[in-house]
Amino acid sequence: MSTESIAVYPGSFDPVTRGHLEIIERARDLFDVLHVAVVANPSKECLFSSDERLDLLRAETAALGGSGKLEFTSFEGLTVQLAGKLGARWIVRGLRSGADLASELPMALTNRECAEGELDTVFLPASPGTSFISSSLVREIAAAGGRLDSLVTGGVEEALRKKSSS
Ligand code: COA
Repeated sequence: MSTESIAVYPGSFDPVTRGHLEIIERARDLFDVLHVAVVANPSKECLFSSDERLDLLRAETAALGGSGKLEFTSFEGLTVQLAGKLGARWIVRGLRSGADLASELPMALTNRECAEGELDTVFLPASPGTSFISSSLVREIAAAGGRLDSLVTGGVEEALRKKSSS
C-alpha cells in the first residue's frame, strides 16, 4: 500500500475560476498527490467539453505554487469509485458560504459511508477575495461581454471569448 497521501478534488470546472485555483494551490501543500478530476456528467450540459476543461486546468495550474504533485483526470460515475481507483483517502472541496456547507455536508457523509470510512472530505474555506465567484456567473458575464479579469485567468478569459464568438 502506498505511503503517499493522495487526495482528489472533483468538480465541473466549467470553466476553472480563480476560486478553484486558490483551492488547488492550497490543497497541494496538504497532500503528496492531488488529482484534479473533471466530472463528465452526461446529465449536466457544460459550455466546455471535458477535454477542454482539462486542458484549461492543466494550463492555468502550470504556474501555481504549492509542493504536492498535481495530476489531472476526467471521470464518469461516482467520486467514491474514482477515489478507490486512484487510491485517494481524501476528497477536497472548497467552501464559499454556509450554503455550500449545507450541500457539501451530506455528500461528504455519504461518500464516507459508501467507502466504509476509508474516504474523508477536507473542506478549505475560500478566501474573501474568491468566495463570491461561481462558474455560472462567469459564463453569464462572458456571454454578455463583461469584465472577467478578477474572476478567471487570462487564458480562461480567452477561451470564453472564443466560445462566445464561435
Ligand atoms: N471558488 C469558486 N467557485 C467555486 C468554488 C470555489 N472555491 N467552489 C465551488 N465553486 C462553484 C463552481 O464554480 C460551481 O459554480 P456553478 O454552480 O455556478 O457552475 C459550483 O460551485 C459547484 O461546482 P463544482 O465545485 O465544480 O462542483 P459540482 O457541484 O459541479 O460537482 C461534485 C460536485 C463533482 C463533487 C459532485 O457532483 C460529485 O461528486 N459528482 C460525482 C457523482 C457522485 O459521486 N455523486 C454522489 C455524491 S455523494
